[in-house]
Amino acid sequence: MHITRKVTEDIVWVGCNDRRLNLFENLFPIPRGVSYNSYLILDEKVTLMDTMDASASGQFKENLEYALDGRSIDYLVVQHMEPDHAANVGELLDRYPQMKVVGNAKTIQMIGQFFDAPEAERTVLVKEGDTLNTGKHTLHFVMAPMVHWPEVMVTYDETEKILFSADAFGTFGALNGNIFNDEVDFEKDWIKDARRYFTNIVGKYGVQVQALLKKAAALDIQMICPLHGPVWRSDLGYFIEKHDKWSRYEPEDREVVIIYGSLYGHTEQVANALASRLADKGLTHISVYDASSTHISDLIAEIFRASHIVLACPTYNGGIYPPIENLLSDMKALSVQKRTVALIDNGSWAPTAGKQIVKKLEELKDINLLEMQLSVKSALKAGQEEELDRFAQQIVDSLAEGE
Ligand code: FEO
Repeated sequence: MHITRKVTEDIVWVGCNDRRLNLFENLFPIPRGVSYNSYLILDEKVTLMDTMDASASGQFKENLEYALDGRSIDYLVVQHMEPDHAANVGELLDRYPQMKVVGNAKTIQMIGQFFDAPEAERTVLVKEGDTLNTGKHTLHFVMAPMVHWPEVMVTYDETEKILFSADAFGTFGALNGNIFNDEVDFEKDWIKDARRYFTNIVGKYGVQVQALLKKAAALDIQMICPLHGPVWRSDLGYFIEKHDKWSRYEPEDREVVIIYGSLYGHTEQVANALASRLADKGLTHISVYDASSTHISDLIAEIFRASHIVLACPTYNGGIYPPIENLLSDMKALSVQKRTVALIDNGSWAPTAGKQIVKKLEELKDINLLEMQLSVKSALKAGQEEELDRFAQQIVDSLAEGE
């Protein structure tokens, strides 16, 4: 049975949802599933925009056959070769012998790496600014390298003013029948997954995302069709502004996120005491996370969201407690920058975590490390009350500075 939806008079969503996959890229938990979007443009020539993950090939075939209604595919535009969108390229080349693959030089090379390379006469090689006319529709190809792989390109349909945006403007989360942003409450139900998707998947490539946003700004875009998550046909500025902020590494909220590691609860107690003290001083929307039980992708998303990060960490094997060490490595890998950080360390006999975290933070760009660090020997004592208060106050003062 087909499951399709009309995007416009000529364009059909032939994508699929996956709620059985636990880990996207075998890394990221997706409790709300994920959608793999694919779009069919029915014109004089029929064009398919990307394919599907292997897990959804059966459903995809039914969707395609229904939407094609006996027609064949003339062009397959491959905007991104990652297998969640390109698993069916080889099979479609076999199934539709007259179909040509449209891609740039890197795309075609990668097709040859994943599958048998298509013959030259079955490829349409495009570069920045090239167009493809399919009858009523004219497609413009815009290169978007490293958003999220080097071969990525996006496609602007000048006829309907639609940007097919590849991974850009995507999100985790399966589509529950409602494929359009105005059919869901995005701010309530989707933004956390969208932030987690962006920051963890393309967070590293802020410069390249900025380059794409600049190119997109020159186009009159009425609709965005990404490869994951809802199609945007209203309030585009809201989502574009989020991407602009994330890719410039600017925080969305002037708020405090406290992330702690704790073997037996003593460092957790310090984190809780600090949160309580900050609340006494009037701060709201404070977030506290245990690095051992919160997935690192959620921590990264929160670090991208908030302006002020407190790391509280015990010394372990003479070094940084592993969940916090992993987080610091991921922060570096994903180019986290422009944050204010306050540091708490704990050690029972040779506390070294604090010093080592400072070294790791120095490897990140534009980190404002607050001067006063709080050191705890095993457990926070009543005698440290005043010290805790001063530590909390410097965070409050720093937050106030930016207002
Ligand atoms: Fe959704 Fe980079 O693939």
